[in-house]
Formats: sequence, structure tokens, C-alpha cells
Amino acid sequence: MNRKLKRVSALLFAAALLCSCGGKNTADDTESFSDENYSQADEYTTVGFSQLGAESDWRSANTESMLSAFTEEDGYSLIYMNGQQKQANQITAIRTFIQQEVEYIVLAPATEDGWDSVLMEAREAGIPVILVDRRVNTSDKNLYSCWVGSDFELEGRKMAAWIGEYAKKEGLLPEDLHIVNIQGSIGSTAQIGRTRGLANAARDNGWDLCAEISGDFTETKGREVMAALLKRFDNINIVYCENDNMAIGAIDALESAGRKVGPDIKNGDVCVVSFDGVNETALDYCRSGKISCIAECNPLHGPRVRALIEALKDGKTPDKFNYVDEKMFSCITQVPEIEVAGQKYPVESDF
Ligand code: AHR
Repeated sequence: MNRKLKRVSALLFAAALLCSCGGKNTADDTESFSDENYSQADEYTTVGFSQLGAESDWRSANTESMLSAFTEEDGYSLIYMNGQQKQANQITAIRTFIQQEVEYIVLAPATEDGWDSVLMEAREAGIPVILVDRRVNTSDKNLYSCWVGSDFELEGRKMAAWIGEYAKKEGLLPEDLHIVNIQGSIGSTAQIGRTRGLANAARDNGWDLCAEISGDFTETKGREVMAALLKRFDNINIVYCENDNMAIGAIDALESAGRKVGPDIKNGDVCVVSFDGVNETALDYCRSGKISCIAECNPLHGPRVRALIEALKDGKTPDKFNYVDEKMFSCITQVPEIEVAGQKYPVESDF
């Protein structure tokens, strides 16, 4: 089968898959070549991008960054597929890209485990795979070329350090802190790192970590999980949300239950902290005190991934793991910096 025919059949296959999964088969889910530009396709570097879903504002910003970094003006033809939170859809997308003979595959994996076979298929086809955002847990790290994203465990440790410093400044004892963790999607790097950052600090400091329950990174689930937690515990005074969308949902549930949300724990507030700093509502909540602290998670990886692909195209070997620097934001000024593993990080209160 020639290259053009392969692309057509692979796209039909992808469209059928999206229909059979009950997903929307719209331009939002699968973006690719139109008939008239097949003839131009060879002028462009072809990249298949398997995005994991559209669960949060962070994810939308990340998708947008990728789509605008790989344009025809920049010499790229990007095929985008939305995995709709299902690893099986992402595996099929990668197989489709292999059939289409793309030159590079970019994968934003939903969860860490279960990628060995399909990454071996990509390697056998000679297509380099670049990971973005979350990571994979493979038997052989050479199954992918490189990764760019956040240090999620560091984000969690920074937030735990902020909680510890703030509690100290307020004169709260370790046993006064009753924390619930509304986690992200279980098994994702973002969840694993942020959960570990808090759990280790709670153990080391003697904080009461009442519960860890997943809210799947969505506002709806954040609201549901918080409402359920309020029925189980009457002493919660810190809510650690593993992203802003869940924090917005949790705040809604707290306020609906008559709880005041803010940093003043000693006077009965529930202190909400979260991650991302992308959603404008969440940033406004942080300015006004409804969210006490946000650890930034930067979604603008499009140009970073493009730079990695450019390096590969030039025959260079980019660093395997490429971390992004991230900030901390807070409505209070009492904790202007925190320290993790001997390294100091500023906490901005004017943002
Ligand atoms: O993997 C990054 C995380 O995924 C973001 O923190 C969250 O909002 C998103 O869904």
C-alpha cells in the first residue's frame, strides 16, 4: 500500500474506533490531512500526537500549545488524537500513527503502566517516541527518546512544605491538621508524585491524613468526593486537591455544606490548596483566599516538544528527562519562601 492510501485507511480506522468507543468523532478529536494537502504532505514533518483526554483546563491549554507549535507554517503536519481518558484508545492511536508512517510520535500518557508492547512496535517501525507531561513505566527506558514535563513529586513536596510552614506560623500543632487528599487519576504520574509528596510529609510530621480519594482531575468529581468526605469527617481543616478543577468543585461542595473556605484555620476556615495555576477562576480564588496556595504546573509544552523533535531531526541526542521550572502562588504573605531538600523556592503573593 502506498503512503497516501495507508494514511486514508488508517484515518478511517481511527474514525471507526472513536465511533465504537462512543466518543465524538469531531475535528476536536482527530485532526489530520485533508484531501487537497496529501500532495503537500511530504513537504512536512509528520507528527502523530496522542493526547490523553480533555479532563481539565490544564489539558485544554496543553492541547492548544501542542496544536499551535506544530503548524504547516513551521513545517509540520500534526495528526492529533484525543484518547478520551482511555489507555486502550491511546494504544490504538499509536498503532494508527505507525500504520500512517508518521516520522515522530508524541505521547501524553494517561497512566504509567502498560506501554511496553506498543512502544516496542513503534521502535520496530523506527519511529522515535517523545513523551510529554506524564511518564511511562517501561522495562526499557530506550523505548522512548525523551520526556518533557513537570516534577510532580517536587510539586507535592513544595506544597507539603508550604502547609508545614504555614501551620507553624499560625501556631498549629501537627496533630491539629486534619487533611484530606482529593487525588488525580490513579496511576498517572501527576497523581503518584503529588500523593507521595503529601503522604511522606504527613508521615514525617505526624499530620492526620484522614483520607485519599480520587476525583479524576475533574470539577464534577471534585465536588462529589468533597461532599462525600464531609459526611465521613467533621474535623477536616485542610483540603489538598491535586488540581485546580477539583479544587473549584470541592470549594462548591464545602460552601454548599455551610463551611467557610480560607486560610484562617484557627477560626474555623477550611484551607484549600491545589495545583496548576492555569484556570483563571482558580487564580482569582487564590487571590481572594478561597484557595490558599497553588503549586504551578506549566502546560505550555508545545514549543518544548518541538525543540526536542528539531534536535532529533538534527541528529542530536537531547537530554532524556527535561524538567520545567514552576512557581508557587499564595494569598498570604506569611510564608514568602519554602525549602525542599535544601533548595529554597519563593512563594509569590502578588500574581
Ligand atoms: O498531568 C498534568 C495534570 O493533568 C494536571 O495537573 C491536571 O490538571 C491534568 O489533568
